[in-house]
Amino acid sequence: MGHGIAELFAIAGYEVALVDVAEEYLKRALQNIEWSVKKLAEKGQVKEDVQTVMSRIKTVVNDICKAVEGVEVVVEAVVEDIEVKKRVFAEADRCAPPEAILATNTSSLPITEIAEAVKPERRPRVVGMHFFNPPPLMPLVEIIRGRYTSDETVKKTAEYAARLGKQTVVVNRDVPGFIVNRILARVNEAACWMVARGEATVQEIDSALMYKAGLPMGAFILMDYTGIDVVCFIGDAMLKRGFKTHPCPVITEKCQQKKYGVKTGEGFYKYPAPGKFQWP
Ligand code: 3HC
Repeated sequence: MGHGIAELFAIAGYEVALVDVAEEYLKRALQNIEWSVKKLAEKGQVKEDVQTVMSRIKTVVNDICKAVEGVEVVVEAVVEDIEVKKRVFAEADRCAPPEAILATNTSSLPITEIAEAVKPERRPRVVGMHFFNPPPLMPLVEIIRGRYTSDETVKKTAEYAARLGKQTVVVNRDVPGFIVNRILARVNEAACWMVARGEATVQEIDSALMYKAGLPMGAFILMDYTGIDVVCFIGDAMLKRGFKTHPCPVITEKCQQKKYGVKTGEGFYKYPAPGKFQWP
């Protein structure tokens, strides 16, 4: 999701430093951003020319310290692993200006635990800024308050989101999954157990959710779109933190088989060009 978030900031006029662990990921990220900005420009949703937007994004290979030099806000979107997130936050804290906000796009990990990786004086500036996939199109950003987050940080983060053209919901309790993923976890679980018990097929459930419940995507295609590995990470993180769930074999088997959805070319459906979403 990182490249989608970088794109939003660049469209809104911010200078962006996009950091990742290898050059190839950054190259792919820039290609994705350019494709997306072009699409939005074709529809009149971006007023500037594509190259002007692209020129605001510089890339940094594997050097968080360099990327956060002089910034006003950092948005972390690394893998859903608390230890990795803490390492990234500790490094960003070391090098970012003292007044910078450190936001996490975590899907399910506690903001409070992440904040404990930074110096006590920074903790009031650590906040959840949770985008939805694909960030350029999804209107919502959840702003999550951890135990240390100040009112000022919540306010400023909501202002950033508004400048990116997003609607915000402030989540005042740092509960597992916040609001959206907590409810989505139940939807996925219910859908999954219906399949596991042979009560309905993947296609029947997705059709019912799309054509009757009015969702843009059914539960299974949305898991393919989000990444079933991410769904498993979220489920595990929530389970470890006391969210009572009944992990369903139909999802866990996909994770064991590394059939993660669009990104690997197969999940609950097949995608002829891995990494590229096409309606099955
Ligand atoms: N940037 C710009 N344009 C994009 C784009 C992007 N990233 N992704 C898709 N588009 C364009 C498509 O190219 C297409 O353009 P066209 O009209 O010129 O052909 C247009 O958007 C519509 O796309 P599609 O025809 O593929 O299909 P849809 O009309 O269904 O729109 C969708 C796609 C916006 C993804 C829609 O299906 C949707 O809203 N799905 C639900 C997504 C959702 O619920 N996301 C949240 C997941 S949970 C999450 O992220 C939480 C996290 O913690 C894991």
